[in-house]
Amino acid sequence: MGRYEGSFVVFEGGDESGKTTHARWIAEQRGAVFTFEPGGTAENEEYRKALMHSEVSHRTEALLFAADRAEHVHKVIRPALEGGRDVVCDRYIGSSLAYQSYGRGFELADIWKFSKFATEGLLPDLVLLLHIPYEAYAARRQQSLKGITRFDREAEDFHRRVLEGYLDLASRDREKWVIIDGTQTPENVRLEVCEVLTKRLGWEL
Ligand code: TYD
Repeated sequence: MGRYEGSFVVFEGGDESGKTTHARWIAEQRGAVFTFEPGGTAENEEYRKALMHSEVSHRTEALLFAADRAEHVHKVIRPALEGGRDVVCDRYIGSSLAYQSYGRGFELADIWKFSKFATEGLLPDLVLLLHIPYEAYAARRQQSLKGITRFDREAEDFHRRVLEGYLDLASRDREKWVIIDGTQTPENVRLEVCEVLTKRLGWEL
């Protein structure tokens, strides 16, 4: 486990994977701090707007995600862990690896390097990957009432690379990553998430 009394749990997955709902619910059940990226601090609202809706270059995008994360770790995540709290975060370094490296094509090693710099090496204790195939993403996106971001406008290819990227990341680090089939009913996903958290971290949910 990490160096803090509390645990740091991250939910990852492609868009429309349902991770936000489950992350919020788990945090509430556990009495953990719930937070998210991008934009997990009030001050970071501007980063979020720039990242989601403006036409910045891909390189700038990668750096803005890292900057947003640096601020988020400094202001929210690390203070909560230092205060003995558990933290549940919706997206973290895995998102930058999946979207900016597998998706955009930047070197994995480069994204890792400045992710480590941004977070001063703070890694999650456990990453839950809610995986859905591209077809499920596309179908859910059509039904979704969420606004369109620059990522939704990306071609099918991009989304497929991100989803494959996540599976690759998870298979390279089985100690930390657990893959959960996000196409199951929400109840079954919830049960599986709870089971994993109980088994891996002893959380009683
Ligand atoms: P958001 O509306 O929060 O989507 P979701 O509810 O699916 O998490 O938008 C986050 C978008 O930003 C999402 O498309 C993934 C992208 N993203 C990156 O590309 N890199 C990152 O490091 C992070 C944190 C998010």
